[in-house]
Amino acid sequence: MRMVFLGAPGVGKGTQAELAALKFGVPKISTGDLLRAAVVQGTSLGREAKEYMDRGDLVPDQVVIGLVEEKVGAPECTKGFILDGFPRTVPQADRLSELLMAKGQSLDKVVCFLIPREEVVQRLGGRRGCSRCSAVYHVEFVPPKNDGVCDECGKELVQRDDDREETVRSRLSVYEEQTAPLIEYYREKNLLSELNGSGPVDTVQKRLVALLSGP
Ligand code: AP5
Repeated sequence: MRMVFLGAPGVGKGTQAELAALKFGVPKISTGDLLRAAVVQGTSLGREAKEYMDRGDLVPDQVVIGLVEEKVGAPECTKGFILDGFPRTVPQADRLSELLMAKGQSLDKVVCFLIPREEVVQRLGGRRGCSRCSAVYHVEFVPPKNDGVCDECGKELVQRDDDREETVRSRLSVYEEQTAPLIEYYREKNLLSELNGSGPVDTVQKRLVALLSGP
């Protein structure tokens, strides 16, 4: 099971990738999480990436491709993986396909999550994440048991720097210009499935499981 979850910022890819990874027993590889971890660790890659991320721009292809190559080649990915937020440009998609081809593998499915733009803004505006683990909440739709505190590890919940309104606007236009062309790219390869991402998390999960369990 080798899959890509595609879609605009805030559409719910990360939330669904986490649940699907548990359900299907394959790792989730999120380039956003990997980059944020590098930022927190203060590595040179993290310092370089932060400038792009704070502006809502994409981090250069060669940086992200390097991160993914390392992960996809790891032993825990032999049974498959879910790529969340990668690829995001045509060169990234081409490189992924070369990488898999070199291992005699290919992608099985690309799921593109779709929700109306107003819902994206609402979801990103209320998103809160754990400052220690990668757990994600929403103040209204996915609230933690105790206000402002992670259910998993008890740490404080924070708002992502790039969830500020002006950065969200720029992330959405970057998505339209650079990532949305991948929808046609994967449709032409007969790999694309579109999924309605509206509604509560468990409703979307049921739709996703039905899609992934089908032929
Ligand atoms: P990344 O972290 O990948 O951000 P993104 O693609 O913008 O996606 P998000 O994490 O914002 O949203 P999501 O779809 O995962 O939604 P979530 O599940 O959290 O990337 C961040 C930055 O890193 C990029 O801008 C770029 O700079 C860089 N980067 C990353 N990958 C890169 C790449 N390949 N190339 C170059 N640069 C790269 O849900 C959102 C909120 O909604 C949450 O609060 C959640 O609780 C809530 N929610 C989820 N589902 C539902 C539901 N069904 N109903 C109600 N609320 C819901």
